[in-house]
Amino acid sequence: MLIAHLSDTHLMTPDTADDNQPAAQARVENLSAAVARVNALSPAVDAVIFTGDMAQHRAPEEYALAREILSALTAPLYVIPGNRDCRATLRRNFAADGYMSGEGDAPILYAIDDYPVRLIGFDSQSGFERKGDVDAAKMQWLDATLAQAPNTPSAVLMHHPPIPVYTSDYPWQWQREEAGNELASLFAAHPQVTRIFSGHSHRAYQDKLGDILVSTVPSIAVDLRLGDFEPQAETHPIFQVHRFDSDNGFTSETIIADNAAINNAA
Ligand SMILES: [Fe+2]
Repeated sequence: MLIAHLSDTHLMTPDTADDNQPAAQARVENLSAAVARVNALSPAVDAVIFTGDMAQHRAPEEYALAREILSALTAPLYVIPGNRDCRATLRRNFAADGYMSGEGDAPILYAIDDYPVRLIGFDSQSGFERKGDVDAAKMQWLDATLAQAPNTPSAVLMHHPPIPVYTSDYPWQWQREEAGNELASLFAAHPQVTRIFSGHSHRAYQDKLGDILVSTVPSIAVDLRLGDFEPQAETHPIFQVHRFDSDNGFTSETIIADNAAINNAA
């Protein structure tokens, strides 16, 4: 199974960008380039995951724009909200794909059982600016959902990485210190969870939460990307492809969406 992992597009429209029009235009181009590169991957990916911060200002027109660009993906798309996102608007634009639970502003939680790896969408929004959190209801949902398929390899999508990102100036991005241990304890009872895919840190990073590898991807928005990258990547968005097979588990590859080869071939 091949999964393309995109995150943190922070899209703006001409109306929402105010005096930041060049960034708005660049971020649209970044997402469009990433979508084109994902579609051109060979072999083709089976699914695309998007780990949050789709829009910069929670504006409906920003989600409509995101939906329009992401609709070009040829593989099924699974999205979760980031701290920047409006759950209700995200739902309105993506619920027709049929996998999201709940309505309105309720947390977006789901399980996808269509692949060799079970994909668990887990909403880490806290209601506080920037930071993530879990509460009893979300933890109960996660525990019960994982208990439904204890023998199926599973990956959890959550915007906030439940680990300290030590290359960041603000390594711990959760409202409470205990959230990491609470999640680690829950996952320890569900050893079929082999990977957590996150965004939020806008950089590539990985570390373990208990026995589970947590990885973050660079922001698709190049102007917001953090960390050092090769000079040839400076103006191109970066995403990752995660490959799963039952013998080796997950391996991951970083893709620079320099689409010159695609454009020349077209
Ligand atoms: Fe972000």
